[in-house]
Amino acid sequence: MKLLKKLSVLAPLLVAPAIILLSCNPSPKDKTMSGAIPVLNDPHSFAKPELAVAEHLDLDIKVDFEHQQVSGRASWKISNKAKGKEIIFDNSGLNISKITLGGRGEGSGSEEQETTFTVDKDVKYLGTGLHVAIAPATKQVNIYYSSGKDAGALQWLNPQQTAGKKHPYLFTQSESIAARSWIPCQDSPGIRFTYNAKVSVPKELLALMSAENPQKKNTTGVYEFKQVHPIPSYLLALAVGDIAFKAVDSRTGVYAEPSAMNKSIYEFADMGKMVDAAEKLYGPYRWGRYDLLILPPSFPFGGMENPNLNFITPTIIAGDRSLVSIICHELAHSWSGNLVTNASWNDFWLNEGFTNYFERRIDETLYGKEEAEIQEEFGKQALEAAIKDMGADNKDTRLKADFTGRSADEGTNDIAYEKGYFFLRTIEAIVGRAKFDPFLRSWFDSHAFQSVSTEQFVAFLNESLIKGDAALEKKIGIKDWIYGTGVPANVVYPKNLWSKDGKFTKIEALAAGFYKNKLDTSALKQEVATSNEKRFFISRLKSPLSLAQMAFLDKEFKFTASNNTDIQLAWYTLAIKYGYTTADQRIKDYLIENGRMWHIIPLYKEMMNTPEGLKKAKEIYKEARPNYHPMTYKAIDELLK
Ligand code: BES
Ligand code: ZN
Repeated sequence: MKLLKKLSVLAPLLVAPAIILLSCNPSPKDKTMSGAIPVLNDPHSFAKPELAVAEHLDLDIKVDFEHQQVSGRASWKISNKAKGKEIIFDNSGLNISKITLGGRGEGSGSEEQETTFTVDKDVKYLGTGLHVAIAPATKQVNIYYSSGKDAGALQWLNPQQTAGKKHPYLFTQSESIAARSWIPCQDSPGIRFTYNAKVSVPKELLALMSAENPQKKNTTGVYEFKQVHPIPSYLLALAVGDIAFKAVDSRTGVYAEPSAMNKSIYEFADMGKMVDAAEKLYGPYRWGRYDLLILPPSFPFGGMENPNLNFITPTIIAGDRSLVSIICHELAHSWSGNLVTNASWNDFWLNEGFTNYFERRIDETLYGKEEAEIQEEFGKQALEAAIKDMGADNKDTRLKADFTGRSADEGTNDIAYEKGYFFLRTIEAIVGRAKFDPFLRSWFDSHAFQSVSTEQFVAFLNESLIKGDAALEKKIGIKDWIYGTGVPANVVYPKNLWSKDGKFTKIEALAAGFYKNKLDTSALKQEVATSNEKRFFISRLKSPLSLAQMAFLDKEFKFTASNNTDIQLAWYTLAIKYGYTTADQRIKDYLIENGRMWHIIPLYKEMMNTPEGLKKAKEIYKEARPNYHPMTYKAIDELLK
C-alpha cells in the first residue's frame, strides 16, 4: 500500500483536500489475531488497535483565549502490534502542522523525525481517520496540531457568561466522540491509555483535568497533570477559568468560581459520605481524590463523570440539596463506566444502566428507601415515555444497540439508562441482594480498568450467577432483556409507595381530584411538600388543565418561580402545552441561562407543537444560542431548522 515512503518529509496540511486512503492492509476484519488485542468492534472510531495501538499520551498544549484555540503537541507512546506501516487516529477538524516519530524520552540521542500522514474523507458524525506512516519499530508518534473552528468538545465562554463576570472560561465535553476535536487520539471507549499533560493558560486562570489536580493557582500559568490509570478517550477533560478549591474532607472537595463556592460547598456537603457508602457497596474507590468541578450554567449535561474530577452543572444547586442524586450518579461511574467501561457506544447501557442502579443504591444508603423508590419511579416514568415515543417494537429499544452509520449520541436515551436499570433491578429482585451484591462487586473487580462488551457481561452473568440453573435462567430472561425490544413482562417496578395508603397512591388521588368542588388545600399542601413530591404530583396531573387550574396550582405551590430544575422542566412543559403564558418570562430566562441539553430540548420540542410556539422558540433561541455549548446548539439547530 501507498502509505508513502517512510519518514519522508513534507507532511501535507490537514486542511488540504482529503485523500481517500485505499488501504490494501490485510486487516483481519473478523478474526482475532492470536495473543493480540481483539479487533475493535466500534463503528464510531477509525482506529485499528489490533494493528497499532496508542498506550500513553504526553500532552503539551497552550490554551489561547484570544484565538479560541488549543494548540501544541500530542505525543503518543504506541505499540505497533502488527509491525505494519501505519497507525490510525481519529480526528475532527484538527489542523495538523506536522507529525514526527521518535524522540521525547525514547532514549538518549534519539531525534524526532518527520513522517507523512494522510487524512480520509470526512464521514458524517465521525470526522476523519488520520493515518500516520510508521516503521515496525516505532514507539513514539508526535502530532503537532491546533483545534479547529467549531471544535465539538470545546466551549469558550466570555467573562459575561461566567459567575464572576471578569475572566473567560474554557471547558471540554468529550463524551461520546468529541475528544477527537481537541486531541488527536484513538477515540474509542474500547481503547485505554494513561496520560501526562502540561497545559499553559493565562496567568490569572487555573487549569484542571480528569487527573491529579492542583488546588490553587501558581504564578507561571503552567500546570502539570498525571492520570496514572488507563482511561478511554471520552474521559479526557480540561477546564480553565478563575477557579478556587475548598475541601469537604480529606479526599473530597469542590472546585468552583469563587463567587459560586459557598453555595456549592453547602449543596454538596455529603459527597464524602457518598464515596464511603459507594465503597461499602461495591469495593474501593480506586482513583485517589474525588472532587467536583461546578461549571458555568452552559455546561451541556447535569454531570459528567470525568475521573478524579466530575463536572457538574450549577443548575442543580437548588439551595436545599434536593438534586444531589446526580452526584451519586456521577460518583457511581467511578466504578461503572470509568473502571469498567462500555467497549463501544452500542454497549452504552453497561455504563448508564449500571450507574443508575448503583446511584439508587447510594441514594438508599444515605437518604433511605423511600427516596430511592421515588427516584426509581421517575425512572419508570421516563422508560415508559421512551417506549411510547419510540414504539415497543423499535429495534433501538434493545439494550444491545446498533448505531452503526448514526450518531453515537442517538443511544443516549432512557433505554440505556432506565431499561438498563430495570434489568439489573429485576435480577436483584429474583436472586436477592445477598447474591446480587457480591456478583456486581466481582464484575467490577474482575474487569477493573478494562473495556467490556454486552456479550462479555452476558457470559459473566451465566458463569457467575446463573451457573447452569435453567429455571433461574428462564426467570431472568437475559435474551429478552438484551436482544428483545420493549420491556419484558418480568420487570420489577416500584410498589411500596403504591400500596393502599402509600405516598404515590395518595398524591395520585390528589392530582386526579384537586380541582373538584371541595378543595382540601391543607391535605394538598401536606402531602405535596418536598421537591420530589411536587415533581411526582405534576407528573400525575390529568390533562388537559385549564388556565384557572394552572393558576390555582401556581398560587399554591409557586411552581413557576421554582429553583428546582426538575420541577421547572415538568411545570414549564405543562405551561407551554396549556398556554399558561404567566410562565413565559421565566421559561425564557431559564432557556437563556441554562444550557443543560436534556433539560432544555424537551421545552423547545414542546413549543414546536404550535405555530405560535415555534415562533417563540425561534425568538428565544436566537438570544440563547450564543450561550450554548456546540453540542447543545448543534442539536437545537437541527431541531429548529
Ligand atoms: N455520562 C453521562 C453524560 C453523557 C452521556 C454525556 C452521553 C455525553 C454522552 C452522565 O453520567 C449522565 O448520565 N448525566 C446525566 C445525569 C443524570 C442521569 C443523573 C445528566 O446529565 O442529566
Ligand atoms: Zn451517567
